[in-house]
Amino acid sequence: MVTIAVDGPSGSGKSSVSKAVAARLGLAYLDTGAMYRAATLWCVRSGVALDDTAAVAAAVRAMPLEMGVDPAAPGVALDGDDVAAAIRTTDVTAVVSQVATNLDVRDELRRRQRAIIADETVGGFSGGHGIVAEGRDITTVVAPDADARVLLVASEEARLRRRSLEVHGVADATSVEATRDQVLRRDRDDSTVSTFHVAADGVVTVDSSDLDFEQTVEAVLTVVERAA
Ligand code: C5P
Repeated sequence: MVTIAVDGPSGSGKSSVSKAVAARLGLAYLDTGAMYRAATLWCVRSGVALDDTAAVAAAVRAMPLEMGVDPAAPGVALDGDDVAAAIRTTDVTAVVSQVATNLDVRDELRRRQRAIIADETVGGFSGGHGIVAEGRDITTVVAPDADARVLLVASEEARLRRRSLEVHGVADATSVEATRDQVLRRDRDDSTVSTFHVAADGVVTVDSSDLDFEQTVEAVLTVVERAA
C-alpha cells in the first residue's frame, strides 16, 4: 500500500503528471479537484445558492458522488450520471472556489478523500496497491503521512501558457491574456484556505517551468523512488 501526494496551483500540470505517474506504477489516481468541481455542479443543479453556506454544506453532505480511480479512465459520476465534462465548463470553474472555501464542504470532502486513500483494495491495476492523490491540500492536510509528497510548481508564464493551450487550443498573446484573470484570480481565492505555493516540511518541490511533460513525470518518479 503506497500513497503519493501531489499538490500544486492551477496550470502546474499536476493532473496529467499525477495520472501518468499512477499509470506507470500501477496505482489508482484520485483527482480531488474533480470532487470540489462535482460539489459545485451538484449545488448548482440542486438550485442551492452558493452564498448560503449552510445549505451548500448540507447539499454536499448528501451528494451521491462516485469517483472512478483508474488512471486510464478516471470517472466522476453524480447519482449515476457521468459529469466528467460538465464539471470542467467555465461556468463551474468560475465559481468552484466559492464552494471550496466553505469549511464544512472541505471537512466532508476531506473525509471522503481519506476513505478512498485508506481503502486497501484501491489500485492494483498492474500489480501495485495504493494511490496517487492530487490537489491543493493533500501533502499537508489530507495525507500528511503519505510515502512521497510533491509540490509541483511552475512559473506564472508557463502555467498561463499551458492553461491557454488546454482551454483555447493555442497560446498566442490574446489567448494567454484571456486566461490570465481566470487562473490568477482562482489561485488567489483558493489561497485563502490552502497554502499550496510553499512546500511544507518534508515536501519535495518539483519545478516544471523548464521541463516537458515526460521530464516532469520522471522528476516525480525520482522523488517517489528516493522516498521508498
Ligand atoms: O485542480 P482543479 O483546478 O480541478 O481544482 C478545482 C478547484 O477545487 C480549485 O480551484 C480549488 O478551489 C478546489 N480544490 C481544493 N482543494 C483540493 C483540490 C481542489 O480546494 N485539494
